[in-house]
Amino acid sequence: MRRPLIIGNWKMNTTLADATVLTTSIKNNVSDLDIDVVLCPPFVWLYPMAEILEKAPKNIHLGAQNMWFAEKGAMTGEVSPSMLKGLVKYVILGHSERRSHFQEKDDLINDKIHAAFENNLTPIVCVGEHEKMTSEKSKKGPGRPPHLEVKADIYRQLKSALEGISRENAEKLIVAYEPVWAIGTGNAATGAYAAEVIGKLRGVIAKKYGQELSERVRILYGGSVDSDNIKEFIYQPEIDGVLVGGVSLKAKEFIKICREAGGKE
Ligand code: PGA
Repeated sequence: MRRPLIIGNWKMNTTLADATVLTTSIKNNVSDLDIDVVLCPPFVWLYPMAEILEKAPKNIHLGAQNMWFAEKGAMTGEVSPSMLKGLVKYVILGHSERRSHFQEKDDLINDKIHAAFENNLTPIVCVGEHEKMTSEKSKKGPGRPPHLEVKADIYRQLKSALEGISRENAEKLIVAYEPVWAIGTGNAATGAYAAEVIGKLRGVIAKKYGQELSERVRILYGGSVDSDNIKEFIYQPEIDGVLVGGVSLKAKEFIKICREAGGKE
């Protein structure tokens, strides 16, 4: 049984005052849930948020939105894994905004994943296609339901992320399936679409590490998730939670998403 996980990616938003109010109200409203909640504020608010969460229930954690892979050096503006170690438990890597605005490539993302594990950080690796895929008629004969021709891009991103990753670490990794066309557009994938792709991503993990291990890896959906459509995703057995962007800045809505995932809404 995979434990549900809800992640809030605040991106480049919030003042310190906003961040404080948001973290405090989430902390006060999700502690009774049997799920994990990860808040990913901007780097500069990590320390003050860690202080707020110091005595928080064990199911609420902090995550960083990115990091560099080297430990230290002449990398103006970057943050290293050892700086995050002890402050956060999770780190988002390979988000589509990093891939597109900062030209992050699969190799670099793989280096970052290795660095995260070396520093006891759990990577949340984002993969996703740019254009919506269409359902094709099954070639396996009449009567079979149509299926998505999953784009090679997504497989390539995941395979590259797993390059050189041990079995022990592979099962700790978190994958976030985030179709780029759904991010920030208000146009979320359907639960069925997301579940189908996630099932295939689990297949990639199974091929490399075996079925049993693949069934322990948490794979989330992300892209325009809100408190109205959360039910689409959370009741799909393949989907282990969601990565929320825009709506994670609204305490009431984000709490509703968490409570729905925890079966208490
Ligand atoms: P969104 O962002 O929920 O605003 O679509 C998701 C993400 O970028 O992780």
